[in-house]
Amino acid sequence: MNLLSAAILPLRLHHPDGSTPVIVGEGALSSVLPELEDWLARRAAFLVTTPRVHALHGDRLEVLCRAAAKWVILEVEEGEGAKTVSTAERLWNEMLDAGGKRDSRVIALGGGSVGDLAGFAAGCFLRGIEFVQIPTTLLAQVDAAIGGKTGVDLPGGKNTVGLFHHPWMVVGDTAVLSTLPREELRSGLVEVIKMAALLDPDLFGLVEEELDLLLEGDAAALGPVVAAAAAAKIAVVERDPTEKGERRLLNFGHTLGHAIESACGYAGLRHGEAVGYGILFALRLARRRGLISQVAARIHHLIRRLELPRLPELSAEGLMAGMARDKKARESGLVWVLPRSLGEGWMTDGIPEHEVRGELADFLRDPLRRPV
Ligand code: GLY
Repeated sequence: MNLLSAAILPLRLHHPDGSTPVIVGEGALSSVLPELEDWLARRAAFLVTTPRVHALHGDRLEVLCRAAAKWVILEVEEGEGAKTVSTAERLWNEMLDAGGKRDSRVIALGGGSVGDLAGFAAGCFLRGIEFVQIPTTLLAQVDAAIGGKTGVDLPGGKNTVGLFHHPWMVVGDTAVLSTLPREELRSGLVEVIKMAALLDPDLFGLVEEELDLLLEGDAAALGPVVAAAAAAKIAVVERDPTEKGERRLLNFGHTLGHAIESACGYAGLRHGEAVGYGILFALRLARRRGLISQVAARIHHLIRRLELPRLPELSAEGLMAGMARDKKARESGLVWVLPRSLGEGWMTDGIPEHEVRGELADFLRDPLRRPV
């Protein structure tokens, strides 16, 4: 690896298939371009991206385009809508038609949806080819691009078809975050708060201090926060790579969050915003199980400071049905991830359905009310 500047942190994720460098910080992408050039030199390289992200950041990959024997741009639609079996099938056909081989390369340039789809396409094509994640949203840099989860959605549920396929490298260049709208930063910050609340109290304190700058996309403030969140995620994934246990803590706020997203047809609210509401709801269940009010209030206040968009009118029954369909549900029932204290989480499938239903009906009357 070439010399990295102080602003760039070279992390590494060890997993059952080897290890993945996770290079984070302002200027991370230009610092690893020589390595990426070697990785794809004289091979077919498939760049999976959206027209918007390509227009914004595609020129940063110019040198890679020159190094590859063939450079094929595979454009997909923006957002969750790209994560379909038919889009994956189109990518496979285009890769095959362009002469893709087992040692061809895939690059995912975009947010979490592009990374999930491109990783899935790479993981299945000719039984698996190497790919690199270059996440361009905060959410993808701190969470989605790290840990090898890839997949697409079925009409009946999000991420219902997929596989673990770790990228060859993850490049989280915080310089690309400056073009993000505030709502997208807010969505990513929910995932940061999720990890900080259950895994890293120091990171939680840092986000509390820097929130206003973070919401403005301030690169100096974002650098250490992205690095700390990525490191927290790496530590969990290394202990539980295939989500048999502790990794499920990363689903804090997602049990209800996914059901909200699905009820909204994946429109209106961003993923992180729906998870923000999921966290507010989980805090109520946690309070009933002994989470002290000061900690609940601190997490609640930080989420409130994000000024989430209004939650649309939703029915408790519809959300209960959506949660039951979620892939996180087990035969034994819904699994809830709750904070025990700041920096410590736990999971339970022992919350009675009638309790969840009652609390949810109350929550929907006033979702932003502080848990008592
Ligand atoms: N985004 C949660 C996980 O990777 O496990």
